[in-house]
Amino acid sequence: MKGIILAGGAGTRLYPATLAINKQLLPVYDKPMIYFPLSVLMLAGIQDILVISSPEYVGNYERLLGDGSAWGIKISYAVQPEPNGLAQAFVIGREFVGNSPVALVLGDNIFYGAGLAETLKRAAARTDGASVFAYHVEDPERYGVVSFDGEGNAVDIVEKPVMAGSPWAVTGLYFYDNSVLDIAAQLAPSARGEFEITDVNKAYLQKGALHVERLGRGFAWLDTGTHDSLMEASEFVRTVQKRQGIQIACLEEIAYESGLIDLARLNERIALFGSTAYGTYLKKLAGSRIAVD
Ligand code: TTP
Repeated sequence: MKGIILAGGAGTRLYPATLAINKQLLPVYDKPMIYFPLSVLMLAGIQDILVISSPEYVGNYERLLGDGSAWGIKISYAVQPEPNGLAQAFVIGREFVGNSPVALVLGDNIFYGAGLAETLKRAAARTDGASVFAYHVEDPERYGVVSFDGEGNAVDIVEKPVMAGSPWAVTGLYFYDNSVLDIAAQLAPSARGEFEITDVNKAYLQKGALHVERLGRGFAWLDTGTHDSLMEASEFVRTVQKRQGIQIACLEEIAYESGLIDLARLNERIALFGSTAYGTYLKKLAGSRIAVD
């Protein structure tokens, strides 16, 4: 399975903080925001990843992440000339995806919780149709909202409804079979002028091929698109990391624990990070093989 991180966008809700920097380069507590969605794809077992960003900033991502070899994966890059919608990822990424299934994650989404890796691997293992995740939120009107029938089957998805039919928002993580390329290629822009991922999901729903998994209390799903949500996400990461002494979205840890990099490669990163908290954490990791789930 291939993976795409969509890390473009205008970031207007974060102005003036994002006037001269792309949102997904901003830190969430101690790491660049894009580490979080990248960690999600890595936890799903995906090793071939395309990062899509705007023409001005794609070079920053190349400098930050390189070719992915630091984590034993392959990262390539593409440009989205204008932020015309999430579904454009599959038009821009068509050649990259080829004949594979593909996962898309939004660059400003953070997922954390017990059993996340297993949940992700299960979704990645489904070979037919689409898998998306729904999360119970206070303010569903900001998102694509999915409604369920009495048996818990998804029956409808509406993008940013005026009145939400349910509290279940569709999160920014999507697993698709290869037919997503053709579905996305045939979309027309919505009334707000965007190629909507909700229209892609609706196409799968109409075919009876949309699997919606509800992420319950044990999971945190945070987005970082506003000043408050960015601050809250930073506080969340800081609180959990300080209390447990365990990093969230430590790419080297994920790579090392899943056997993508060896101790020699880990030691290169330890040298890079030196005596920072991150470097110290990696040093401890190198000295012990006891993983904490
Ligand atoms: P949004 O938060 O919807 O948009 P934005 O990031 O441009 O911010 P704002 O609304 O404040 O102007 O985007 C969700 C995610 O998807 C975010 O990670 C940016 C990314 N994105 C793209 O990469 N390309 C796009 O065309 C759009 C719409 C979003």
